[in-house]
Amino acid sequence: MSRYYLTTPIYYVNDRPHIGHAYTTILADAVARERRLVGEDVRFLTGTDEHGDKVERAAAARGLSPQEHVDDLAPVWKAEWDALEVRYDRFIRTTDPDHLAVVAIALEKLKAGKAPDGGPLLYEDAYRGWYCVSDERYWTEKDLVDGRCPECGKPVEEIEERNWFFRMSAFQARLVDHIQSHPGFIYPESRANEVLGFLREPLADLCISRPRERLAWGVPFPWDEEFVTYVWVDALLNYVTGTVDPQPGETPEETARRAIDAWNEHPADVHLIGKDILTTHSVYWITILMALGWALPRRILGHGWWLWEGSKISKSVGNAVRPEDLTPLFGVDGLRYYLLREMTLGQDSTYSYDSLVRRLNADLANDLGNLHSRVTKMAGRYLDGRLPQRADAVGQAEEPFLRERALEIGGGSGEVARAWREWRTHAALARVFELVSATNEYLERLEPWKRAKDPAAAPVVAATLFHAAEAVRLAAALLWPVVPQLSGRILESLGQPAVPCPEHLAWGILDGEAILAGPAIYQRLEAGAV
Ligand code: ME8
Ligand code: MG
Repeated sequence: MSRYYLTTPIYYVNDRPHIGHAYTTILADAVARERRLVGEDVRFLTGTDEHGDKVERAAAARGLSPQEHVDDLAPVWKAEWDALEVRYDRFIRTTDPDHLAVVAIALEKLKAGKAPDGGPLLYEDAYRGWYCVSDERYWTEKDLVDGRCPECGKPVEEIEERNWFFRMSAFQARLVDHIQSHPGFIYPESRANEVLGFLREPLADLCISRPRERLAWGVPFPWDEEFVTYVWVDALLNYVTGTVDPQPGETPEETARRAIDAWNEHPADVHLIGKDILTTHSVYWITILMALGWALPRRILGHGWWLWEGSKISKSVGNAVRPEDLTPLFGVDGLRYYLLREMTLGQDSTYSYDSLVRRLNADLANDLGNLHSRVTKMAGRYLDGRLPQRADAVGQAEEPFLRERALEIGGGSGEVARAWREWRTHAALARVFELVSATNEYLERLEPWKRAKDPAAAPVVAATLFHAAEAVRLAAALLWPVVPQLSGRILESLGQPAVPCPEHLAWGILDGEAILAGPAIYQRLEAGAV
């Protein structure tokens, strides 16, 4: 079994999740499920980013200590992902003891290490510049746009203090070389070009501390208790900590050492992130790993933003559309399907209630739902609810186009699997709906409802419904990574296990099953129902 390690960003616990966070996390879950479905050994990490100014201020605004605040909110994020059928392997919190140990080990190693030019990796200096609390980013005077954060446009704060610095500048040439010699390392390519464009200017060093008197809520510097670790350095290291789970009886340091070994043996195959945090991942994270002499991730994938009326959906803009606003109406599957079908990975996408209703009605309620109900009802009416044996159906009522489409799309290496491998998630879903359309066309051609009036045609009718049911089964199995509940209901109605296994992605599984004609598998929604 090949191992596949994927991560989401760890989200700030200054508020509850919105559909932007849900998108990255559901995308990661669908990719993890798809890989597991084809038989790979997957590790999927998500979690919360709990230190820093932003969280400290959110806690203060609620009259809570930072620890009370994060202990209150981390379970909210976890419960949200559980409710959305996200099956992560570890939910990491940056306040976890083994993570604090990883940060301390990494800082000590940097302190002891040398830059490529032989100089120290870390040094102390006075810092004068600007800070954006919302993005937890330092900026220089010339970065600012009209005196505001160039990333989010919010006001910045002037800072002047003594700090520790990382010689990030010493790794500029190596970073550029790595990006250029590893196509696909930053993905899609447009994002790699963005980073290379940024790296055409000289790279500054990175301030990696905050004086404790200004910010107390962070990981203490191991050798200088006047400082805490800059939250991004702390946060990025979560990907190393998250390679393992703490074991009973192990000290946090022991877990941390095991995690570092595990990372170096098998670093992340992909960090899934939004384009807002491309620089911190492509530049800060990669140069820190280079300085530590630790393995580099294989890919950083920066997707686009969900927009609403032209702006990025964001907690701080106050235009957050939240999963819990949508799932009571559209179901968990409806939300998951919409987010993955509507966004072309890499590009921005505009959320609207109308597009949501239109998409779910067209695909889930009409195309798939109606086909499923048609086939199961006819199986009840004409076959007493039992499909023929495979041997009796094969070779009858065959229409090559249906079988061919199914063979092209399905299997561990068909078009759907290929689209997943190429990160064309919307296309993976669109291909499945081509099979759904082909099946509708097949039924229109064979018209089992007309032939059923002629007793002599019974074997053909039975074979027709058998092949149509097989196509519905295959479509459901291929959709399972995205709509696990809906797919499970379809599969069970066809006498199959609710969770498909690799063989179930192939054509030709059904064999004399009892069929249940139940209620519609996806309820049609009325526009303007809210
Ligand atoms: O940046 N559209 O956390 P964060 C699409 N803690 N995705 C969106 C989105 C939108 N409108 N809004 C948010 C942080 N996201 C750091 C990360 S990682 C070591 C530390 C998603 O709470 C997207 O994945 O601001 C984005 O990168 C992430 O949430 C930012 O979450
Ligand atoms: Mg953010």
